[in-house]
Amino acid sequence: MVKLLSLSRAARLAGVSRGELQKRIREEDLETFEGELSVELLLELYPHIDLEADPMLEKVRRIRSEASPKKLHSDGWMPDPEVLMTRLKEFQHVLVKTKTALNSSDELLQEILNDLQAAVAAPEEELRHLVAGCITRLNRATQKIGQAEDTRAALFAKDIMLKIVSASIRLLPSGHEFFLEGSDSILEAGLKAGLYINYGCSSGNCGACKCRVISGAVSKLRRHDYVLSAREQEEGYILACSNTAISDLVIEAREADAKEALPHQKIRATVRKIEPNGQSMVLLYLQTPRTQSLRFKAGQRVRLTAENESSAELHIASCPCDGRNLQFMVARRPGDPFSDTLFSQQMSRQTMILEGPVGEFVLREDSSTPTLFIAKETGFAPIKSLVEQAIAMDNAEQFYLIQLGGNPWGSFLDNLCRSWNDSLDNFGYFSPSKECTAAELLLLLQQLTADLHHFDLYIAGPGDWIDAVRKEAQLQRLDSSHWFCQQVD
Ligand code: FES
Repeated sequence: MVKLLSLSRAARLAGVSRGELQKRIREEDLETFEGELSVELLLELYPHIDLEADPMLEKVRRIRSEASPKKLHSDGWMPDPEVLMTRLKEFQHVLVKTKTALNSSDELLQEILNDLQAAVAAPEEELRHLVAGCITRLNRATQKIGQAEDTRAALFAKDIMLKIVSASIRLLPSGHEFFLEGSDSILEAGLKAGLYINYGCSSGNCGACKCRVISGAVSKLRRHDYVLSAREQEEGYILACSNTAISDLVIEAREADAKEALPHQKIRATVRKIEPNGQSMVLLYLQTPRTQSLRFKAGQRVRLTAENESSAELHIASCPCDGRNLQFMVARRPGDPFSDTLFSQQMSRQTMILEGPVGEFVLREDSSTPTLFIAKETGFAPIKSLVEQAIAMDNAEQFYLIQLGGNPWGSFLDNLCRSWNDSLDNFGYFSPSKECTAAELLLLLQQLTADLHHFDLYIAGPGDWIDAVRKEAQLQRLDSSHWFCQQVD
């Protein structure tokens, strides 16, 4: 029987991104089975798979953990002992079955060998000759059992080991797939994978994350699931925020698509930190109450109102995978009450009201197209959120970030961008060392790719700068009609 692997699991086993695997399948016109591929095909594509190490897993884990601080009931890596034991028992069960099958074939071989040895005594010369040949072959086969290196078996064992530390979850009807690591809840794992799963309180109180388990086993992280009726519980409904996966799961869950508006929220958040970023910018860190996360899409914005009533509508600069810990970039603008408040006051432990989210500058849904992100000045805020979302989704074949601006030039979280560049094989970061004209920017784009048409292009920054870049593109007969643009002044 052909053993099939989902694309996510196959990419993880090969140590490549899902985008890269999809690209190879498309370029080499390879056969998949309803989105899954065979072990044989995976080994053909990547004959030198390192069956011991999984560097990609490490890279993505590190980046994701930087993007999303650990939650209260997550130790970030090791599952709960109870969950670990259950997974190990499942592992043991699979191994016992496999070993039993091996032992049976061993016994069978021995029996056939005995029979054939008896047949050798028969008078017919030819039969004796044939049987002797069989014995030689079977002798060779029995000597090989357990000695020859079988890559498929090693791949199988690696897959089993990965299953111990992470369960795979498939959502219906979308077919989205992600991994749950440590003792994250199903909701946390889905958000970290860049999905817009329905949720509200994140704490088992509102019922918005209700979903139905089609197959697999879950374990409760929180006891209170009283928002579910007894009948719903009998029908397999659970709360995604209050359960973790023990085994691989298939669940029915509601998700928002790229076009769907998310519910409007009004939340009082606490100012955790205000951090200078260069001389003309501060990073504002807000944290919502434990039972009220902000549900938003990467690239969206909210209105912030400080205690002195000054307010501003700002793009969220962090990943939607963490709706409690939010980042914003605020430019120094003397005379602007909100900017003056942030640059001149001690605001630690003060609160701000945030209202939203709004905006349609969001990532194209499930796109595996190569992507270019270009940001200037505070346009870096929505672009940073989009890049973090793209990293979490792990769909894009290739993506580049070009960052312009900062005072001093290039100072906007340059180290973070460089760490993405160093950690991800399919990511490139460029920060020109000085102000560049629209023509110079287009030249850089054309050096990166001969055909801009094959890229999704997201550009955010001051309106007059975006206009200048589009005008220059027109002069150079480049079609910019499909670019996703966001004015951020
Ligand atoms: S998000 Fe409110 S119960 Fe799960």
